[in-house]
Amino acid sequence: MKIEIKRYIDEGEVHEERLGYEVDLEGATLLEMLTEIKTKQDATLSFASGCRSSVCGSCAMRVNGKEVLACAYKPQEGDVVEPLKNMPVIRDLVVDMQKALDFTKVAKAWAGESDAAVALSEEDAAVNELQSDCILCGSCYSACPVYEVNGEFIGPFALTRSWRYVSDKRESDVAGKIEAVQTNGIWDCTLCGECVPVCPQGIAPKSDIDMLRNKSGILGYMDPKFVGGFGGGLDFGAPSF
Ligand code: SF4
Ligand code: SF4
Ligand code: FES
Repeated sequence: MKIEIKRYIDEGEVHEERLGYEVDLEGATLLEMLTEIKTKQDATLSFASGCRSSVCGSCAMRVNGKEVLACAYKPQEGDVVEPLKNMPVIRDLVVDMQKALDFTKVAKAWAGESDAAVALSEEDAAVNELQSDCILCGSCYSACPVYEVNGEFIGPFALTRSWRYVSDKRESDVAGKIEAVQTNGIWDCTLCGECVPVCPQGIAPKSDIDMLRNKSGILGYMDPKFVGGFGGGLDFGAPSF
């Protein structure tokens, strides 16, 4: 089977090349194929991986323009493999996720002080279960079209993580977390849903952003574009989606 890999090498200026590789491995994953290429054909090929079982999130890349985990994806003849989008490429299929990860700080997407008096029921715990499964693979971030116009967008996984804590009944700083996602955050999302099908964990950042908008409306925030469109004179105290 032949696959093509977009190679990126930064030697002062970025050098980009699409190279074809012939690999005969029956039923192999993309990660196994990349390892075969690296060990038997071209030791200069660079890619990231860790667990090899869809747990660590480090092997996310794009195949034919769609985000996948290389350790889970079974390649097809003629597949074109590329690094994730919206992040600087370090080399070949390895990207620098630091800026994307830093947006979790901007969003204050961590557990604040817990209210010890609040006991969680099984149902309460289930509310946060899905978002807690995020493996920070960056696939949703790569698929998000907002980065074409706003490189400071807090982005899908940081906002999903924010909702994970905002929706936690024990969280004592809900107002602070909601305030943190007003600028370059929930209102900049177009609700296009591109982040949803690419998530290997079945998380839907779009829905979580919708929930954050809802909560923001309850706390008196509005979409700034909506406010501007009506001269800032209307306040229904509800989200505008
Ligand atoms: S729904 Fe929002 S966060 Fe998700 S890809 Fe679209 S714009 Fe980005
Ligand atoms: S929400 Fe899903 S796609 Fe986005 S980083 Fe987390 S696991 Fe990856
Ligand atoms: S190697 Fe860990 S998710 Fe693929």
